[in-house]
Amino acid sequence: MKLNPNGLKIFPFNHQPSFAELWEVAIETLYDRPIYVNEFKAMLEANGITKGSRILDTCSGGGFPALDLVRDGYRVEALDASVDMVELYNCRSADLGLISRCTHGRWQELPRLLPGQKYDLLICRGNSFRHAAGGWNKAEKGFPNADAAYHETLQIFREALKPGGRLYVDISRDPTNHREMICWIDVEGRHEQLNFVIEHDGAVRRASFIRVSPDGTEIKLPNSAPALVPYELEQLIKKAGFRLQPVSIPAESELFQGWMAHI
Ligand SMILES: C[S@@+](CC[C@H](N)C(=O)[O-])C[C@H]1O[C@@H](n2cnc3c(N)ncnc32)[C@H](O)[C@@H]1O
Repeated sequence: MKLNPNGLKIFPFNHQPSFAELWEVAIETLYDRPIYVNEFKAMLEANGITKGSRILDTCSGGGFPALDLVRDGYRVEALDASVDMVELYNCRSADLGLISRCTHGRWQELPRLLPGQKYDLLICRGNSFRHAAGGWNKAEKGFPNADAAYHETLQIFREALKPGGRLYVDISRDPTNHREMICWIDVEGRHEQLNFVIEHDGAVRRASFIRVSPDGTEIKLPNSAPALVPYELEQLIKKAGFRLQPVSIPAESELFQGWMAHI
Protein backbone atom coordinates (compact mmCIF):
# COMPACT_ATOMS: atom_id res chain seq x y z
CA MET A 1 0.00 0.00 0.00
CA LYS A 2 1.33 3.44 -0.86
CA LEU A 3 1.58 5.78 2.07
CA ASN A 4 0.20 9.24 1.69
CA PRO A 5 3.10 11.37 0.44
CA ASN A 6 2.29 14.05 3.01
CA GLY A 7 3.59 11.75 5.75
CA LEU A 8 2.04 11.86 9.20
CA LYS A 9 -0.93 14.20 9.28
CA ILE A 10 -2.84 15.67 12.22
CA PHE A 11 -6.61 15.09 12.22
CA PRO A 12 -8.58 17.41 14.52
CA PHE A 13 -11.66 16.32 16.53
CA ASN A 14 -13.73 18.58 18.78
CA HIS A 15 -15.31 15.44 20.32
CA GLN A 16 -14.23 11.90 21.16
CA PRO A 17 -13.91 10.24 17.71
CA SER A 18 -16.13 7.25 16.94
CA PHE A 19 -14.59 4.01 15.72
CA ALA A 20 -15.94 4.87 12.26
CA GLU A 21 -14.20 8.26 12.30
CA LEU A 22 -10.89 6.58 13.17
CA TRP A 23 -11.31 4.22 10.20
CA GLU A 24 -11.90 7.20 7.96
CA VAL A 25 -8.72 8.79 9.30
CA ALA A 26 -6.83 5.55 8.61
CA ILE A 27 -8.10 5.49 5.02
CA GLU A 28 -7.12 9.11 4.44
CA THR A 29 -3.68 8.32 5.86
CA LEU A 30 -2.94 5.01 4.18
CA TYR A 31 -4.42 5.61 0.73
CA ASP A 32 -4.01 8.16 -1.97
CA ARG A 33 -7.78 8.22 -2.46
CA PRO A 34 -8.00 9.55 -6.07
CA ILE A 35 -5.40 7.03 -7.26
CA TYR A 36 -7.12 4.14 -5.49
CA VAL A 37 -10.58 5.10 -6.80
CA ASN A 38 -9.28 5.37 -10.38
CA GLU A 39 -7.67 1.95 -10.11
CA PHE A 40 -10.85 0.50 -8.61
CA LYS A 41 -12.91 1.95 -11.48
CA ALA A 42 -10.46 0.52 -14.04
CA MET A 43 -10.81 -2.89 -12.37
CA LEU A 44 -14.63 -2.59 -12.58
CA GLU A 45 -14.47 -1.64 -16.24
CA ALA A 46 -12.17 -4.57 -17.02
CA ASN A 47 -14.84 -6.80 -15.47
CA GLY A 48 -17.75 -5.39 -17.44
CA ILE A 49 -19.18 -3.16 -14.70
CA THR A 50 -20.31 0.21 -16.03
CA LYS A 51 -22.09 3.30 -14.73
CA GLY A 52 -25.35 1.61 -15.76
CA SER A 53 -24.70 -1.45 -13.56
CA ARG A 54 -26.66 -1.82 -10.34
CA ILE A 55 -24.15 -2.04 -7.47
CA LEU A 56 -24.52 -2.71 -3.75
CA ASP A 57 -21.60 -1.95 -1.44
CA THR A 58 -22.43 -4.52 1.23
CA CYS A 59 -20.17 -2.99 3.91
CA SER A 60 -19.78 0.58 2.78
CA GLY A 61 -18.25 1.91 5.99
CA GLY A 62 -17.97 5.69 5.75
CA GLY A 63 -18.18 5.52 1.96
CA PHE A 64 -14.78 4.39 0.70
CA PRO A 65 -15.15 3.85 -2.22
CA ALA A 66 -18.98 3.80 -2.48
CA LEU A 67 -19.42 7.58 -2.20
CA ASP A 68 -16.54 8.23 -4.60
CA LEU A 69 -18.33 6.00 -7.13
CA VAL A 70 -21.72 7.67 -6.54
CA ARG A 71 -20.08 11.09 -7.02
CA ASP A 72 -18.62 9.82 -10.31
CA GLY A 73 -22.01 8.72 -11.62
CA TYR A 74 -22.18 5.03 -10.65
CA ARG A 75 -25.47 3.51 -9.40
CA VAL A 76 -24.27 2.41 -5.97
CA GLU A 77 -26.44 1.52 -2.97
CA ALA A 78 -24.93 1.04 0.48
CA LEU A 79 -25.39 -1.26 3.47
CA ASP A 80 -23.42 -1.47 6.70
CA ALA A 81 -23.85 -3.21 10.04
CA SER A 82 -22.37 -0.44 12.26
CA VAL A 83 -24.48 2.47 13.41
CA ASP A 84 -21.48 4.82 13.56
CA MET A 85 -20.43 3.86 10.00
CA VAL A 86 -23.97 4.46 8.70
CA GLU A 87 -24.03 7.88 10.39
CA LEU A 88 -20.64 8.79 8.94
CA TYR A 89 -21.68 7.64 5.46
CA ASN A 90 -24.88 9.66 5.57
CA CYS A 91 -23.13 12.79 6.87
CA ARG A 92 -20.37 12.56 4.25
CA SER A 93 -22.94 11.98 1.52
CA ALA A 94 -24.94 15.03 2.59
CA ASP A 95 -21.74 17.12 2.80
CA LEU A 96 -20.91 16.08 -0.78
CA GLY A 97 -24.42 17.14 -1.88
CA LEU A 98 -25.36 13.53 -2.74
CA ILE A 99 -28.70 11.84 -2.06
CA SER A 100 -27.16 8.42 -1.41
CA ARG A 101 -27.95 7.03 2.06
CA CYS A 102 -26.71 3.87 3.75
CA THR A 103 -29.08 1.14 4.97
CA HIS A 104 -28.26 -0.17 8.41
CA GLY A 105 -28.03 -3.95 8.58
CA ARG A 106 -25.96 -7.10 8.43
CA TRP A 107 -25.34 -9.32 5.41
CA GLN A 108 -27.36 -12.01 7.15
CA GLU A 109 -30.38 -9.64 7.14
CA LEU A 110 -30.20 -8.78 3.43
CA PRO A 111 -33.11 -11.03 2.37
CA ARG A 112 -35.34 -9.18 4.87
CA LEU A 113 -33.93 -5.67 4.33
CA LEU A 114 -33.76 -5.68 0.53
CA PRO A 115 -36.12 -8.51 -0.45
CA GLY A 116 -35.91 -9.67 -4.04
CA GLN A 117 -33.33 -7.03 -5.01
CA LYS A 118 -30.77 -8.21 -7.58
CA TYR A 119 -27.46 -6.58 -8.41
CA ASP A 120 -24.85 -6.67 -11.16
CA LEU A 121 -22.13 -6.21 -8.56
CA LEU A 122 -21.80 -6.69 -4.83
CA ILE A 123 -18.76 -5.05 -3.23
CA CYS A 124 -17.33 -6.56 -0.04
CA ARG A 125 -14.00 -4.76 0.27
CA GLY A 126 -11.59 -3.64 2.93
CA ASN A 127 -10.98 -7.06 4.50
CA SER A 128 -14.59 -6.99 5.69
CA PHE A 129 -15.70 -10.51 4.73
CA ARG A 130 -13.56 -11.87 7.58
CA HIS A 131 -16.23 -10.42 9.89
CA ALA A 132 -19.13 -12.56 8.65
CA ALA A 133 -18.89 -14.40 11.97
CA GLY A 134 -18.70 -11.14 13.99
CA GLY A 135 -15.80 -9.45 15.74
CA TRP A 136 -16.13 -5.98 14.21
CA ASN A 137 -15.17 -3.52 16.95
CA LYS A 138 -15.08 -6.41 19.45
CA ALA A 139 -12.33 -8.48 21.08
CA GLU A 140 -13.62 -12.01 20.55
CA LYS A 141 -11.53 -14.96 21.75
CA GLY A 142 -12.67 -17.34 19.02
CA PHE A 143 -15.14 -17.92 16.22
CA PRO A 144 -16.50 -21.47 16.59
CA ASN A 145 -19.24 -20.93 13.97
CA ALA A 146 -17.13 -19.09 11.39
CA ASP A 147 -17.38 -21.62 8.55
CA ALA A 148 -21.18 -21.77 8.79
CA ALA A 149 -21.39 -17.95 8.89
CA TYR A 150 -19.12 -17.64 5.83
CA HIS A 151 -21.16 -20.18 3.90
CA GLU A 152 -24.50 -18.58 4.84
CA THR A 153 -23.22 -15.11 3.86
CA LEU A 154 -21.96 -16.35 0.48
CA GLN A 155 -25.32 -17.99 -0.25
CA ILE A 156 -27.07 -14.71 0.59
CA PHE A 157 -24.69 -12.82 -1.72
CA ARG A 158 -25.35 -15.39 -4.44
CA GLU A 159 -29.11 -14.87 -4.13
CA ALA A 160 -28.66 -11.10 -4.46
CA LEU A 161 -26.83 -11.34 -7.80
CA LYS A 162 -28.46 -11.05 -11.22
CA PRO A 163 -27.54 -13.80 -13.70
CA GLY A 164 -23.96 -12.99 -14.73
CA GLY A 165 -23.54 -10.74 -11.67
CA ARG A 166 -20.30 -10.51 -9.74
CA LEU A 167 -19.05 -10.29 -6.17
CA TYR A 168 -15.90 -8.27 -5.49
CA VAL A 169 -14.28 -9.56 -2.31
CA ASP A 170 -10.83 -9.06 -0.83
CA ILE A 171 -8.67 -10.10 2.11
CA SER A 172 -5.43 -8.81 3.60
CA ARG A 173 -2.21 -10.84 3.42
CA ASP A 174 -0.74 -10.10 6.83
CA PRO A 175 0.32 -13.28 8.59
CA THR A 176 2.86 -11.46 10.79
CA ASN A 177 2.28 -9.14 13.72
CA HIS A 178 2.77 -5.47 13.04
CA ARG A 179 2.45 -2.08 14.78
CA GLU A 180 2.78 1.33 13.17
CA MET A 181 1.95 4.88 14.02
CA ILE A 182 -0.32 6.13 11.25
CA CYS A 183 -0.96 9.74 12.22
CA TRP A 184 -1.67 12.24 14.98
CA ILE A 185 -5.16 13.01 16.16
CA ASP A 186 -5.97 16.19 18.02
CA VAL A 187 -8.85 15.32 20.37
CA GLU A 188 -10.45 18.31 22.10
CA GLY A 189 -7.11 20.12 21.93
CA ARG A 190 -4.93 17.21 23.09
CA HIS A 191 -2.42 15.62 20.68
CA GLU A 192 -2.51 11.82 20.58
CA GLN A 193 -0.69 9.27 18.43
CA LEU A 194 -2.91 6.90 16.47
CA ASN A 195 -1.33 3.49 16.02
CA PHE A 196 -2.61 0.53 14.02
CA VAL A 197 -1.73 -2.92 15.30
CA ILE A 198 -2.15 -6.37 13.79
CA GLU A 199 -1.73 -9.33 16.13
CA HIS A 200 -2.34 -13.03 15.59
CA ASP A 201 -3.44 -15.14 18.51
CA GLY A 202 -3.83 -18.71 17.30
CA ALA A 203 -6.84 -18.78 15.00
CA VAL A 204 -7.82 -15.15 15.75
CA ARG A 205 -6.54 -12.04 14.01
CA ARG A 206 -6.83 -8.75 15.88
CA ALA A 207 -6.56 -5.43 14.04
CA SER A 208 -6.83 -2.61 16.55
CA PHE A 209 -6.34 1.09 16.85
CA ILE A 210 -4.32 2.27 19.81
CA ARG A 211 -4.67 5.90 20.88
CA VAL A 212 -1.59 7.00 22.80
CA SER A 213 -1.92 10.08 25.05
CA PRO A 214 0.99 12.45 25.76
CA ASP A 215 1.48 10.74 29.18
CA GLY A 216 1.77 7.33 27.48
CA THR A 217 -1.71 6.08 28.44
CA GLU A 218 -3.08 3.79 25.77
CA ILE A 219 -6.70 3.25 24.70
CA LYS A 220 -7.16 0.14 22.58
CA LEU A 221 -10.07 -0.13 20.15
CA PRO A 222 -10.14 -3.72 18.98
CA ASN A 223 -11.37 -5.65 15.98
CA SER A 224 -11.16 -9.41 15.80
CA ALA A 225 -11.81 -12.00 13.13
CA PRO A 226 -10.72 -15.48 12.10
CA ALA A 227 -7.07 -15.50 10.95
CA LEU A 228 -7.92 -16.61 7.41
CA VAL A 229 -5.25 -16.49 4.71
CA PRO A 230 -6.19 -15.74 1.08
CA TYR A 231 -5.98 -19.41 0.03
CA GLU A 232 -8.51 -20.41 2.72
CA LEU A 233 -10.94 -17.70 1.67
CA GLU A 234 -10.56 -18.77 -1.95
CA GLN A 235 -11.51 -22.33 -0.97
CA LEU A 236 -14.56 -21.13 1.02
CA ILE A 237 -15.80 -19.08 -1.93
CA LYS A 238 -15.33 -21.99 -4.34
CA LYS A 239 -17.13 -24.34 -1.93
CA ALA A 240 -20.11 -21.96 -2.02
CA GLY A 241 -20.35 -22.53 -5.79
CA PHE A 242 -18.56 -19.44 -7.15
CA ARG A 243 -15.86 -19.31 -9.78
CA LEU A 244 -13.04 -16.90 -8.99
CA GLN A 245 -10.97 -14.49 -11.02
CA PRO A 246 -8.10 -12.81 -9.13
CA VAL A 247 -8.06 -9.06 -9.73
CA SER A 248 -5.42 -6.48 -8.98
CA ILE A 249 -5.68 -2.96 -7.64
CA PRO A 250 -2.05 -1.83 -7.88
CA ALA A 251 -2.31 0.67 -4.97
CA GLU A 252 -2.88 -2.15 -2.50
CA SER A 253 -1.87 -5.34 -4.28
CA GLU A 254 1.10 -5.93 -1.96
CA LEU A 255 -1.15 -6.13 1.08
CA PHE A 256 -4.49 -7.33 -0.30
CA GLN A 257 -5.72 -10.14 -2.51
CA GLY A 258 -8.95 -9.36 -4.38
CA TRP A 259 -11.22 -11.46 -6.57
CA MET A 260 -14.24 -11.12 -8.78
CA ALA A 261 -16.44 -14.12 -7.97
CA HIS A 262 -19.28 -15.26 -10.20
CA ILE A 263 -21.57 -18.26 -10.60
C1 LIG B 1 -12.76 -2.54 7.37
S1 LIG B 1 -14.33 -1.78 7.27
C2 LIG B 1 -14.45 -1.54 5.55
C3 LIG B 1 -15.26 -0.32 5.21
C4 LIG B 1 -15.21 0.07 3.73
N1 LIG B 1 -15.84 -0.93 2.90
C5 LIG B 1 -13.79 0.25 3.27
O1 LIG B 1 -13.37 -0.45 2.36
O2 LIG B 1 -13.09 1.08 3.84
C6 LIG B 1 -15.41 -3.16 7.57
C7 LIG B 1 -16.89 -2.79 7.50
O3 LIG B 1 -17.66 -3.98 7.48
C8 LIG B 1 -18.83 -3.75 8.23
N2 LIG B 1 -19.36 -5.06 8.60
C9 LIG B 1 -18.79 -5.98 9.42
N3 LIG B 1 -19.58 -7.06 9.50
C10 LIG B 1 -20.67 -6.84 8.73
C11 LIG B 1 -21.85 -7.58 8.42
N4 LIG B 1 -22.07 -8.79 8.94
N5 LIG B 1 -22.75 -7.03 7.58
C12 LIG B 1 -22.53 -5.79 7.03
N6 LIG B 1 -21.44 -5.03 7.32
C13 LIG B 1 -20.53 -5.56 8.14
C14 LIG B 1 -18.36 -2.91 9.40
O4 LIG B 1 -19.42 -2.23 10.02
C15 LIG B 1 -17.37 -1.98 8.71
O5 LIG B 1 -17.97 -0.80 8.27
